[in-house]
Amino acid sequence: MSDIWTRLRDHRKSQGDLRIETLFRDDGTRAETCATHADGLVLDWSKTLIDEGALRLLLELAAPVHARRDAMFAGQRINETEDRAVLHTALRNLGDSVVVDGHDVMPEVRRTHQRMADFAEDLRAGRFTGQGGRITDVVNIGIGGSDLGPAMAARALSPYHDGPRVHFVSNVDGADIADTLRDLNPETTLVIVASKTFTTIETMTNAQTARDWMARKVANPAAQFAALSSAQDKTGAWGIDASRVFGFEDWVGGRYSMWGPIGLSLMIAIGPGNFDRFLAGGAAMDRHFRDAPLHKNLPVLLALVGIWHHQICGYATRAVLPYDNRLARLPAYLQQLEMESNGKGVAMDGQSLTLPSGPVVWGEPGTNGQHAFYQLIHQGTAVVPCEFILAARGHEPDLAHQHLLLVANCLAQSEALMRGRSLDEARALMQAKGLTGTELERQARHRVFPGNRPSTTLLITQLTPYTLGQIVALYEHRVFAEGAILGINSFDQWGVELGKELALKVAPLLEGKPAPGHDPSTLHLAHLVRELRRA
Ligand code: F6P
Repeated sequence: MSDIWTRLRDHRKSQGDLRIETLFRDDGTRAETCATHADGLVLDWSKTLIDEGALRLLLELAAPVHARRDAMFAGQRINETEDRAVLHTALRNLGDSVVVDGHDVMPEVRRTHQRMADFAEDLRAGRFTGQGGRITDVVNIGIGGSDLGPAMAARALSPYHDGPRVHFVSNVDGADIADTLRDLNPETTLVIVASKTFTTIETMTNAQTARDWMARKVANPAAQFAALSSAQDKTGAWGIDASRVFGFEDWVGGRYSMWGPIGLSLMIAIGPGNFDRFLAGGAAMDRHFRDAPLHKNLPVLLALVGIWHHQICGYATRAVLPYDNRLARLPAYLQQLEMESNGKGVAMDGQSLTLPSGPVVWGEPGTNGQHAFYQLIHQGTAVVPCEFILAARGHEPDLAHQHLLLVANCLAQSEALMRGRSLDEARALMQAKGLTGTELERQARHRVFPGNRPSTTLLITQLTPYTLGQIVALYEHRVFAEGAILGINSFDQWGVELGKELALKVAPLLEGKPAPGHDPSTLHLAHLVRELRRA
């Protein structure tokens, strides 16, 4: 382990029971200096124990980001275990040329983008129709990166929807597709099969179910299907006409793919103009990530805050708490982005990681979470660093008073987490209620908040296509920077494979067929399922 990690751990130890509030008392400018501004975004990381010394060491730790970032943007094959370049950034930078293996990939990226926009416009204008008339509903069938990004963004940008309704089906549980299709008319529905590989069992099973559903009412169901995939041989074999197939290259990872064809459902919902604004926000964050010095670089700072809390302070999880109901799916989206990218036990050199890998990421929008799990965040024994996301303006001018209440709650939570409430303050409260003696003491102890619980706040003006693009790219590059610092390849996902393989081997067991090689518990559970299905 490098010397900087040891020095950082020692620095944390030397802080002892230092309180975040003390840092503010010692430095009257902390609120401003630890609020980093970039292109209208503000990342306030002042309510953490990162002091000057910690920041200096953390910035030293960030040194490997430079070279790896340049290698990524230069189209080098930095996804070494899959021998691929990593260029999702090319999907949102529609101007410059990007060379992979001596070949500029941008003309093809732009061509596909234009085809998507033409198709979206045709569909929105009623020029592309279903067999029963104008398309009213679009169903995106995909899972993981082929679902979470567009589903999250479609919900986030609902004020911009002016196209057909969009729905998302991901789970192999038939309940998902059954509930979605129940109220739709097959004659006016477009189904988009979103799968980079076009082999994912959940997606292909749901796609077949949707085709059967459509075939009951529509003469030519395939005509109301589109496909988003890198495997164009397979989309053709499945019967989808090449004019409605939108391809992308293997240098776009699944969880980084919403900027290209996988974003088609979003583009149809909000229109190509708004989709381009989303891309522009992402591209602006790319420029910031490339050009800003490390100490002013939002993705790098967010990565360093994460490393400080997880690898140095040892906090096992982090909560993402958007104070924006339309960002309800952002935590789920970030779970894949962060945990599938950096949840690895082996470093790029093939050696076991000597540091903890990425943390557990979870969350819910505020203020709902306040009435669910914030109790633990405030008074539980585990420290959970919180990442608040907040827009100064809402989208409902006539409900501005509700938005102010939302903002007040967000600021109050980060303040309460930091300040806490001392035993003396709790005693005074109980005294004011007329309690005395042992009862006062007992009641007061339940009302103590330890405080000193860290949080960051990402402040934006308003949730728009542009700012959503900035936020998503910010988190992508944060994951990248964390991976670079930890020496992890953030772009493969071998950990998903074993379960997939075994699911195929378990399936025959459930039909009572012999399937060797299973453990006694799995055999027993399969037996019980068979019994219960017969009952
Ligand atoms: O969950 C594993 C995974 O490979 C993800 O990385 C990917 O986003 C998802 O499956 C879906 O894959 P595909 O787009 O190929 O169907």
